[in-house]
Amino acid sequence: MLDAISHIREEGIYPFSLPGHRFGRGTDERTASVLSRGAFEADVIMAKSSVGEAEQLYAAAVGARDAVFTTCGSSISIHTALLTITGPGKKVLVDRNVHKSVVASLILAGADPVWLRPSWDPERQIAHPATTETVARVLAEHSDIDAVVLITPTEYGTGADVAGVADLCHERGLPLFVDEAWGGHFGFHPDPPTAAVKAGADLAVQSLHKADGGLCQASMILVGGDLVNTVDLRLRLDLITTTSPSPLMYGSIDGWRRHLALNGKELIDGALRQAAEMRKRLGDVDGLSVIGEEFQQTPGVAEWDPLKLCVDVSALGITGYTAKEWLENEHQIAAQLGDARHLVFSLTYADEEAAMDRLAQAMVSLASNPPEDDRRAPDIPPLEELNLEQAMSPRDAYFAETEQVAEPAGRISAEMVSPYPPGVPAVLPGERFNQAVVDYLRAGLAAGMTIPDASDPELTSFRVVKGA
Ligand SMILES: Cc1ncc(COP(=O)(O)O)c(C=O)c1O
Repeated sequence: MLDAISHIREEGIYPFSLPGHRFGRGTDERTASVLSRGAFEADVIMAKSSVGEAEQLYAAAVGARDAVFTTCGSSISIHTALLTITGPGKKVLVDRNVHKSVVASLILAGADPVWLRPSWDPERQIAHPATTETVARVLAEHSDIDAVVLITPTEYGTGADVAGVADLCHERGLPLFVDEAWGGHFGFHPDPPTAAVKAGADLAVQSLHKADGGLCQASMILVGGDLVNTVDLRLRLDLITTTSPSPLMYGSIDGWRRHLALNGKELIDGALRQAAEMRKRLGDVDGLSVIGEEFQQTPGVAEWDPLKLCVDVSALGITGYTAKEWLENEHQIAAQLGDARHLVFSLTYADEEAAMDRLAQAMVSLASNPPEDDRRAPDIPPLEELNLEQAMSPRDAYFAETEQVAEPAGRISAEMVSPYPPGVPAVLPGERFNQAVVDYLRAGLAAGMTIPDASDPELTSFRVVKGA
C-alpha cells in the first residue's frame, strides 16, 4: 500500500476525481498544521487496487487463510463477521461479556443469542472468559446453535482457551468467531497469548488501532479453517461499509504488517521486558496491588497478555474512576480504563522508557498522597444478580414501540446501557431490567463511571418496550 501511494504521487497523476483537496493542495495552513499536510498527500483513493496483494501478505504473516482489511473500526468488522456466520432466526452462542458492537450485530442480523456467562472473579471483581467446560455444557443443552462468538482477550488482558472451544465447535461443524480487538500483535510473537486463527478460530477481528500501530478505525478480519467462505464475507462487508475506504487506514495496516513482520519479535520482547520491570516497581509501592502472572490461576483465564497492566487501587481508599481522573488532571497521563477498583494501562511496543518512568512516578505519587473524593465506590453485586432474563429478541425489542420510564425494574429494555470502557452492555435490548442492575448503574454513574450510550445520560429514566 505504501508503494502504491508513493508511486501514484511520483507518477504525477492529477485527479479530476475524489478527493477534492487534490493531494492537500487545497488544504489550508491551519488544518495542515494540526493534521499534517502529509496525511492529505497520502489520501490517494486510487491506491485501493493494491489492497488485495497487501491482504495476502498480511494473511501469510500471521498464519491466516485470508485477511480482509476494513476501515470503519472493528465495529463494522464485527457486524460483517456476524452477518456472515448467522442470520434471521438463527441461534448463536455469544459470550455475555461482549462489546456492544456484537449486540448491534445481533440486531442487524436478526439472530437470537444464547448467552454464555463469563467466569466471575469474586476476589478482583472482574469478568473473565467462560471456561471450555461451560461452553461444552451450553452446547450440549442447545443442539440448535449455529455459531459461537467469544471475546478474548478482555480489556484486562485475560484470554479464553480458544483451541479448546474451537475443537468443541468443529466437532459439531459450527464456526467460531473471536473478537480479538486487543490482540492484533499476538500473531507477530511466538509467546502466548496465541493468535485466535492459529488456535483454530474460523474468524477473528482485530482493531489495529488499539494495542497496535494502525490509525484509528484500521481493523482486520482474519479467516482461518475452511468453514467460512471469504467471498460471502466480502459481500456482507460490501453491504455495510463505506464505498470510499481511507488509503491512510490501508497504508497504516500494511505498514504495521511490514514493521512487525521484520521487527515484531524484538519490539514485543522490549515491551514485555518493560511491562515486567514496571510490575516489579509498582509491586513495591504500598497501597498498590499489581496483577501479575497469578491471574492465570483464575477460572476462565487460559492465557494472559502481560501488556495489560492492571493495578488495584482500592487499598488507597479511592476508586479507579477517581485515580484515572487524577492521573489525567495532575500528571497528564491517560489510562485505558478505570473501574470501581482498578486502573488498566495498555502498554505497547511504542512506549519509550521515559514514558514508563513518568507512569511509575505518577503512580508512586498517587499512592503516597491519594486524592480526597466523597464519591462512594459503587457496591458491585455478585454477577448472578446482574444476569438479566432475555425476555425478547434484541432486534424485536430494539424496533418495538418504546417509552422512557424512571423505574424500569421488571420492564424489557429497548436500549443498550454500556459502561465505557470496556463497552460491555450492562443491559441490552430485550433483557428485563432488575433493581440490582438499575442500582449498580446509578451508583456507578455517581462514582464517575462513563456511560456514553444511554438514552438518558443522567440515568433518571431508561428506554423500555411499551406495554411489556
Ligand atoms: C473488545 C472490543 N471489540 C470491539 C470493539 C469495537 O472497536 P472499534 O472501536 O474499532 O469499532 C471494541 C472497542 O472498544 C472492543 O473493546
